[in-house]
Amino acid sequence: MTQPFPDNVFLQGPMGPSGIECDAPDLVIKGELPPDLQGVYFRNGPDPIYPPREGDEYHWFHGDGMIQRFEFADGKVAWKNRWVRTEKYELERAAGKSLFGVLGNPLKAAPEVADKHYNTANTHIVWHGDKLLALMEGTIAVELEPQSLNTVGNFDYQGQIQGPITAHPKIDHATGEMIFFGNQAKGAFTPFLRLNIADRHGKLIKNEMIEAPFPSFAHDFFVTENYVIFPVYPLVFDLERAMSGGLPMAWEPDRGAHFGVMPRDGTAQDIRWFDMEARWSFHMVNAWEEGDAIKVDVCASNATAFAPKADGTMANPSEGLSPNLRRWTISPGAGTGAIAEEIIDGDTVGEFPRTDDRFMTRRHRHAYLAGSSGQQMVFDQILHYDMQSGTQKRWGDGSYLLGEPILAHRNDAAAEGDGYVLNLAYNHASSLSELLIFDAADIDRGPVCRAMLPLRIPAGFHGTWVGA
Ligand SMILES: [Fe+2]
Repeated sequence: MTQPFPDNVFLQGPMGPSGIECDAPDLVIKGELPPDLQGVYFRNGPDPIYPPREGDEYHWFHGDGMIQRFEFADGKVAWKNRWVRTEKYELERAAGKSLFGVLGNPLKAAPEVADKHYNTANTHIVWHGDKLLALMEGTIAVELEPQSLNTVGNFDYQGQIQGPITAHPKIDHATGEMIFFGNQAKGAFTPFLRLNIADRHGKLIKNEMIEAPFPSFAHDFFVTENYVIFPVYPLVFDLERAMSGGLPMAWEPDRGAHFGVMPRDGTAQDIRWFDMEARWSFHMVNAWEEGDAIKVDVCASNATAFAPKADGTMANPSEGLSPNLRRWTISPGAGTGAIAEEIIDGDTVGEFPRTDDRFMTRRHRHAYLAGSSGQQMVFDQILHYDMQSGTQKRWGDGSYLLGEPILAHRNDAAAEGDGYVLNLAYNHASSLSELLIFDAADIDRGPVCRAMLPLRIPAGFHGTWVGA
């Protein structure tokens, strides 16, 4: 018997757990479903099956990974959702309650899982090497069967990767390679990053260990045609602090931000570090090369309250907590410190940035973000930036809580940005979810159609479009 979920913002309203797996073969569509929208949209997000062991102490990032699968074919949209059968999920299902501590905290775990593997697989879902992989950054991937969403099992590249894998790998569509990294790759609190590259068939072809200036939290990284760039933000892990009863992670802006630039075909010996004053970013839009420079479009802020400072106080809004769209230029030829920042849109709080995935690692034209009409990270707008024309379009009247926008390209021959933008949204009036479908060229005209869900899907993280 499941106990009631406690009073916590991440367990209520649009974020509350669903408690259900279902198959809906033919969703009600309001509006005209575009006949050339053909393929599958997968989305991952946390959906805890059991209430936390710690009462009302909970974190959004802890929920069990639940995959939403929307298939566009034969003039209809079929939807199904399934939890990822991680070891955590299976152990807790068997016990009928939570066994792991929130975020894998070993001090809060039940004794029977002291030596078990914590994996929620709740952050992203990607398609590479003919495999569908559910990812969270703390551990290895979990492979799923793409039609049924049945869990195949942990995927560790034939035993070649034991440690963590980022939830934000980059797929270079020119080479078919997937480039990814592991943070704290020699164990918790270690300043080591591991670079991996898998070829288009999913075979591991690079496994390189890199030493960073200090152990930090890095959720994303940057890849261009020829380079990998490892950001090290001053969100610092400290074992001594943790051992003395403090929080393991703290915002230490005096340490600055550091960017390790390494050729994709190089080794750890080839990495060069460039410094910048303190910055924080969860997600980048894309990175590319222009002449001798590396450019990164990124949602960044000057400070973060994701963790307290070392003295226990939190950074405040005057320090610049809200992320907005910026462009960083790294000029390796100009020597240390050669990083410039341009604010592309300082007036809009924006996050969950995406572009047409086919242009990842090459210069992109179009960027799509979830945005806020206020100064909080409550996303009620969808934003489209055309970097070539410098124009911006937006849509959102406050009636939805919006998620990450995904570009579904019209077909393989389509130009960049030619297709539809999908957004899994929560309708405040109905308390139900809807998959909103926009013409990517005209998002400001609102959705061309809406696939109506018969229930509410909890707010989630990241997804992938796999064209037919
Ligand atoms: Fe993310």
